[in-house]
Amino acid sequence: MKENKITKIIHISDLHFTSNFVVEWGNKIIEDIKNVEPKIVVITGDLTDNGYYEEYIQAENFIKKIKCENIVTVMGNHDARNGGYEIFEEIFHNRYPLYTDDQTIILGIDSTEPDIDDGHIGRANYSYIEEKMRNVNKLKIIALHHHLIPIPKTGRERHIPVDSGDFLKLIDDLKVDIVLSGHKHNQWIWKLNNTFFVTAGTAVSKKLKGKGFPGYNIIEFDDSEITIKQINLLNDDTHTFKDKRNYLKS
Ligand SMILES: [Fe+2]
Ligand SMILES: [Fe+2]
Repeated sequence: MKENKITKIIHISDLHFTSNFVVEWGNKIIEDIKNVEPKIVVITGDLTDNGYYEEYIQAENFIKKIKCENIVTVMGNHDARNGGYEIFEEIFHNRYPLYTDDQTIILGIDSTEPDIDDGHIGRANYSYIEEKMRNVNKLKIIALHHHLIPIPKTGRERHIPVDSGDFLKLIDDLKVDIVLSGHKHNQWIWKLNNTFFVTAGTAVSKKLKGKGFPGYNIIEFDDSEITIKQINLLNDDTHTFKDKRNYLKS
């Protein structure tokens, strides 16, 4: 009988080293990741507050403590500030990281522009994204910093990628299962057509919305279902969202 294997992914975002990082929260998430034993950890940007080298070093040291062999990291608008985009490339080697195994493909995308907070994917990158994602019989995930659809309770809408309409169409055409993003510091899930758009809160920083809390997501999937757990880092309260896998593995 064919084994229906469950894959676990942890999605964290918006660490905001240095001034906004909370040490106890950092320790807690390192411990949580160790306990969950995910196959992959995805970090959707804003590792730093200002893109400064010192902040990058502290973020890098934190990421080194994460007990997971596969870590996919993309750049946030804060990381691209002050020439920080060069340091990101130096440390992480790739602004478009690609992870694949027999079940999963995750493509990270740099949606930032230096010293501009607005997102931008860029039509020139669409053919690369299409080349990697078209006709792939795996769970397809795109990870980028900026949200593509407005997120509630985050004030006046801004910073959505300037080409988000075209990019949403590409995501739909390519039958992407999940899009992971950050930036808004508020956990949220939208489902548009057959794709889940999952935004993480800030994992470990004080940059909270209202009386919000730090948190992260656990994504689990098998051949038929996707489960997304939104975890409150402070008290482990969990909001679970479960749905069928719309683009079934054949
Ligand atoms: Fe952020
Ligand atoms: Fe951001």
